[in-house]
Amino acid sequence: MEIINRRHRMASIARKLRRENKTVGFVPTMGALHEGHLTLVKEARQMSDVVIVSIFVNPTQFNDKNDLERYPRDLTSDAAMLRDFDVDYIFAPEASEIYPDGFSTYVYVEGLSESLEGASRPGHFRGVATIVTLLFNIVRPDLAFFGRKDAQQFAVIKRLTRDLGFETELIAVPTVREASGLAMSSRNELLTPEDREKAAVIYRALQLAESEFSKGERNGAKLAQIVENAISEEPAASLDYVAVVDAESLEPIEKIRDMPAIIAVAVKFGSVRLIDNVLLHPGQ
Ligand code: PAF
Repeated sequence: MEIINRRHRMASIARKLRRENKTVGFVPTMGALHEGHLTLVKEARQMSDVVIVSIFVNPTQFNDKNDLERYPRDLTSDAAMLRDFDVDYIFAPEASEIYPDGFSTYVYVEGLSESLEGASRPGHFRGVATIVTLLFNIVRPDLAFFGRKDAQQFAVIKRLTRDLGFETELIAVPTVREASGLAMSSRNELLTPEDREKAAVIYRALQLAESEFSKGERNGAKLAQIVENAISEEPAASLDYVAVVDAESLEPIEKIRDMPAIIAVAVKFGSVRLIDNVLLHPGQ
């Protein structure tokens, strides 16, 4: 396993791998790796000849300076974990390598970037779309792996991949959960042990709505209300939003018909903001 800091070296390795007809699987991350990331890496390992993981805490997707500063960073322990999973390359550039002085070009996916997380974190998806475009340009992966927990991020990246003509196939990997049901996230480390336990309410609430959906409830507002009621029972939780939206367009849905929908939530415990969602398939 080689750790690469320079984008030109990463790009030249990627060119060589393409010439050799190797299938490149790419897992972009911001480090602080947990079981959720490792599941993406395992999937990439199974489906690709060469696995590249990027570790880059992307400053342009943080709209809150404190959030960026306290984001956990530990390249040594991340690299040790990835070695066990037979990763070929880690791409871990400095911010100045990606955003040199005078950088002024951003990618913005209209229509998918403003709602939900975008409303609470202005500029967030511009930062995500920009870094993913930069990374795809450097790595040119055949396959790129993302977690379903970040459902809106996946929708944004899917659209930019199509619109900008990247020949990368996106693979959405189901959310990995702690034993309590809490979705794995680097932010879980920032919760107090008490809040970490209490945060299990998020998935319990989503499961209640999921179970009503499986009994036939198709009304978006009613499903959202079930989630809101369940979360309001936990005094430590402060609901930011709950929304029932089309899984691809992210448009709010009054009545779920034949297209997959998601119930997406964001909940704060103290200053830590957690997101989660469930995917609803009307055909099932
Ligand atoms: O999901 C993440 O960790 C980040 O948003 C990503 C896709 C690596 C871009 O910085």
